[in-house]
Amino acid sequence: MMAVLMLQLLWIASMGAIGIAAAAQFSYGNCETKVNKERGLCIHIRDCPFLDEILNITKTTPEQRQLLSDSQCGLDNTRQSGLVQRILVCCPDGKRVSPGTDKATGAVVENRSEDDPEPGNVLPSIGKCGIMFANRIIGGTKTQLFEFPWMALLKYKKPSNDFGFNCGGALINSRYVLTAGHCLASSKLEKSGWELHSVRLGEWDTSTAPDCVTELSKKQTCAPMHIDIEVEKRIVHELYVANSIDQMHDIALLRLKELVSFTEYVKPICLPVGDAVRNNNFEDYAMDVAGWGVTEDGNPSTTKLKITVEVWNHKKCQDKYRVYQMHLNGSQLCAGGKNQIDTCQGDSGGPLMVPTNVGQHEVFFVAGVTSYGPVPCGLQGWPGVYTRVGNFVDWVINKLEA
Ligand SMILES: *[C@@H]1O[C@H](CO)[C@@H](O)[C@H](O)[C@H]1NC(C)=O
Ligand SMILES: *[C@@H]1O[C@H](CO)[C@@H](O)[C@H](O)[C@H]1NC(C)=O
Repeated sequence: MMAVLMLQLLWIASMGAIGIAAAAQFSYGNCETKVNKERGLCIHIRDCPFLDEILNITKTTPEQRQLLSDSQCGLDNTRQSGLVQRILVCCPDGKRVSPGTDKATGAVVENRSEDDPEPGNVLPSIGKCGIMFANRIIGGTKTQLFEFPWMALLKYKKPSNDFGFNCGGALINSRYVLTAGHCLASSKLEKSGWELHSVRLGEWDTSTAPDCVTELSKKQTCAPMHIDIEVEKRIVHELYVANSIDQMHDIALLRLKELVSFTEYVKPICLPVGDAVRNNNFEDYAMDVAGWGVTEDGNPSTTKLKITVEVWNHKKCQDKYRVYQMHLNGSQLCAGGKNQIDTCQGDSGGPLMVPTNVGQHEVFFVAGVTSYGPVPCGLQGWPGVYTRVGNFVDWVINKLEA
């Protein structure tokens, strides 16, 4: 109803409007067209010529108006421009401006980068971070190819010259990955002689490359190859004490050797910079944890999984852990522990993510960094403990360099 109304409004408003050519193509993620159930991308109407054309027709048919209305997948309120420039439509693959096609498989490969990467000291604005696909499926633990595109895997080199993924992280801009202090400093790492080697982005199934899915229509969609980028600088919080019982300040940043360009499969999550997200205690909020379940001891899943966890009342969590002389404070968050599996789904060092509504879009913020949890993992009644990112936003911003 909302979308229909909006397009009627748009229709009237656009009669005399002159379109300003959209600069870079910007996408709000995958979608499915309402009529033919085709796979598409939610993009500015100016980037979807076959729908944009309709706006130029002086006398449209009811069918054309209906098509416009059915195609709307959102409104980009981050733009200051007129209504037409802000309309987002679900534009089917093949009808967009120059979609890439993989020569070998014929599959549509989405490897456009949306913008030139910004320098490392710039945080993405709302509208460029925390966004994934319009047709997100709630529930279930399997992720789709494009879900949580900010998830990073930390790749370690072992003394045997093998590589392994033993921690996770989250991309926060074109140059930095947020992770846990314990992923860079711990006696376990030291003893085993593992060296952080690089960061993997754009990964979904670690056992295949590239990652492809076959849709109901039998059409195959492949993500571009994952990328491994070496780490230029490791920045562990100055007050983090490796192997301390409380694991305070368990947070770290990795500066990548190169800037990364954002695609549908590599995109940053938003830092909780604004007061409302920074200061929220998030009690009873449902949050998402995703990852391959990687820990210092291995990874149980080859594909990215997800789970919803609920944030605990802080005092209740403190009481729980106090039994073991572990003192939690406001720089930590507790979540999960209600299901058998929940704390195992994420990656050590990976993000605890809170979906929020910004305009018509679901925007994800990184509320926590996975710090520690009960052993055995997923012990009923024991929440996982996360470093509360809101307490470290200023620390993060201070560390970012161009
Ligand atoms: C619609 O009209 C505008 C303004 O005249 C023009 O810039 C644009 O290219 C037209 N779009 C299509 C798809 O014909
Ligand atoms: C939590 O405890 C640590 C270590 O004692 C301290 O440095 C930090 O300021 C405390 N944070 C809050 C929010 O109480």
